[in-house]
Amino acid sequence: MNATADKPQAAADLVTLEINGERVQIAKGSMIIQASDSAGIPVPRFCYHEKLPIAANCRMCLVDVEKTPKPVPACATPVAEGMKVFTQSKRALDAQRNVMEFLLVNHPLDCPICDQGGECELQDVSMGYGRSVSRYVDRKRVVPDEDMGPLVASDMTRCIQCTRCVRFSAEIAGTYELGGIYRGENLQIGTFDGKPLMSEISGNVIDVCPVGALTNKVFRYKARAWELTARQSIGYHDALGSNLFLHSHRGEVARAVPRDNEAVNECWLSDRDRYSHEGLYSDDRAKQPMIKVDGQWRQAGWDEALTRAAEILKSVDPGQLGILAHPSSSSEEGAMLAHLAESMSAGNIDHRIKQLDFADNAVAEPFDVAVADIVNAKTIILAGCNIRHEMPLLHQRIHQAVKRGARVHAINPVDFEFSFPLHSKTIVPPSRLAETLKAAGNGLADDAGAVLILGEIAENHGNASHIRAVAASLQRGGKVRLCRLPQGANAIGLARAGVLPKAGGAHADAMFDGSIKSFLLFGIEPQFDFSAAARATKALLGAKVVSCSAFVTGALMEVADVILPIGLLPEIQATLSNVNGVNQSAEAAGKLPGAAQSGWRVLRALYDKAGLPELAFTDIDGLRAGMRVHAVKSGSGLSAAASAGSGFERISSSPVYRIDAVCRRAAALQAHPLTLGARAVMHPEDARSNGLSDGMMVKVGDGTGSAALPLSVSASVAEGCVWIESQYAASAPLSQTGSLAITRAAL
Ligand code: SF4
Ligand code: SF4
Ligand code: FES
Repeated sequence: MNATADKPQAAADLVTLEINGERVQIAKGSMIIQASDSAGIPVPRFCYHEKLPIAANCRMCLVDVEKTPKPVPACATPVAEGMKVFTQSKRALDAQRNVMEFLLVNHPLDCPICDQGGECELQDVSMGYGRSVSRYVDRKRVVPDEDMGPLVASDMTRCIQCTRCVRFSAEIAGTYELGGIYRGENLQIGTFDGKPLMSEISGNVIDVCPVGALTNKVFRYKARAWELTARQSIGYHDALGSNLFLHSHRGEVARAVPRDNEAVNECWLSDRDRYSHEGLYSDDRAKQPMIKVDGQWRQAGWDEALTRAAEILKSVDPGQLGILAHPSSSSEEGAMLAHLAESMSAGNIDHRIKQLDFADNAVAEPFDVAVADIVNAKTIILAGCNIRHEMPLLHQRIHQAVKRGARVHAINPVDFEFSFPLHSKTIVPPSRLAETLKAAGNGLADDAGAVLILGEIAENHGNASHIRAVAASLQRGGKVRLCRLPQGANAIGLARAGVLPKAGGAHADAMFDGSIKSFLLFGIEPQFDFSAAARATKALLGAKVVSCSAFVTGALMEVADVILPIGLLPEIQATLSNVNGVNQSAEAAGKLPGAAQSGWRVLRALYDKAGLPELAFTDIDGLRAGMRVHAVKSGSGLSAAASAGSGFERISSSPVYRIDAVCRRAAALQAHPLTLGARAVMHPEDARSNGLSDGMMVKVGDGTGSAALPLSVSASVAEGCVWIESQYAASAPLSQTGSLAITRAAL
């Protein structure tokens, strides 16, 4: 492994060797390839990957070492004091050329027409180290392809059996979905069972594959590598803020690839961040401002639409104006919303649209632990948290921590699947999360401070203040280092930008009590993005609504009066703050569709139209320069305990690929088997005692909304509860907390 290669070392731990006559110092236990890489001396390789265990099966990295009888693999030969390595001697070059020839015996050599052409490690290395003509004249081997699902395409005839994908699947994803079958010349890499890849980070096999055997199914045949323009961007579907490049082709984002950042995503990307760009090009993108006149929608110019929007915002007292932003909106957009609210003396402004319990006035706060340090934790407690779907690459870090000996305990209402074994699990209804954490917390904590991760189910529960209070008390006592998952990619940035109620102002949930007569919605799909969708819709229907939105849907048109088209993160310059409170910037990679504009520009124009006191800046640099950072901290109040309903307790979680409007429109993610569709899941005992059975259609109601859903029976769900994933059309009308009545649906 490479673990020792890049750590600062005391002199006694260092080894000095010579590579091609150059003196190189590196940590004891490092491999020759790590020493040559650190010195910038190229050694060809296929199977070696710095994040994966060493396999040493391709032999491409053979180098010549003084006093060894034959060339040795640089990736699997440890350095030794005084070692003399030659990467370019005749013996080394002959060995490399011969290995190359063997590797190409069965390779199709289709480079000019191969979709990997131009960005293929095999193509590059064969140009540098191979022969110019092939001596092989016999029939080549052909390997049939498999359907690995909607994200990854395979062309296994091109596979050189380096096993990087196999090791990724086992060691990083932890799903063991790929392996080698048959032996010798017949060895084939595949899934064994022919099932699609289920890992939430499966797309990384595309990057680790050094040839065109595993490729991006969504991007396939869309463009050649040299036709693409790369722009730095960040993931915006969770608050990890994975660093990535967006590659665009003729102004359209064609694919996303990881940008290495050891402090955030290392060299990986979640499938959500890799494939969501498809959602940018959905047919219902908002491309033109629209206004509703006498109940009829029509397109309008910017001037007319902004004038109408400003009229709506100014038509009510400031106390009757509500401003709500999606928690993945950028900090620049948040700052403009805060300017607007301040100049209009409007105190009702918030981004916490998923939160239901505001007794403690909780806001998103940076983790107590650096993301990269989570691998060193000894104890990790997951409370109300399906970390695998909420933040796939943090789940991956926990997997690495477990490999180093960490013990993970789950206190959850569903026995969620993780890629690592749990040391203990306590499956309780959401309403008992607080007391269970309180009872178990001290016992689970360790001297270094256990890492306590509160997830979506804990944060968005109707009595979340009680769970947070227990967590805060463990934190104060030094028992845990607290990591509350921000409920939105930029929840921390928006809190800092001031998108929070001003003194006396209403928070997101209180704005739906009927007192707000004009709303400004920013980046929100009302039927999916609010935790209390039914209440929210009712309040919106009773008010005038200006919506800055990237999409136009029937549901939005029903509640809105003006729709102002805005760009999505890949199309704008933006800053988001991640879980460690680090501000990260994204550049615009794709063209804005139609007449759409960056959100901050739309808000700036709306601000002017409303005749508010002049702002000094006109460009984004000016806006950024004047951005204040508001110091915010959660309070400590407790909500009144909810009365126990007579029905089943609702467990609500976000499906991994329906977390926001863009993901919900990404076709490949929607076709992925992790997108299960709306269903009600209950414990077998509950099903039996209520005369219900697996596969049956059931009617679920919570007093405000109802849904007909297929029933799935599973012992993974706490007894007395019904687990329903939110944000599907069928489940959206249900409140995400409280009690549910469930009956067999009439046929
Ligand atoms: Fe050429 Fe690489 Fe394609 Fe093989 S996988 S045909 S080496 S571009
Ligand atoms: Fe290596 Fe790619 Fe083959 Fe996997 S599919 S073994 S990564 S060449
Ligand atoms: Fe060393 Fe493959 S890179 S054997």
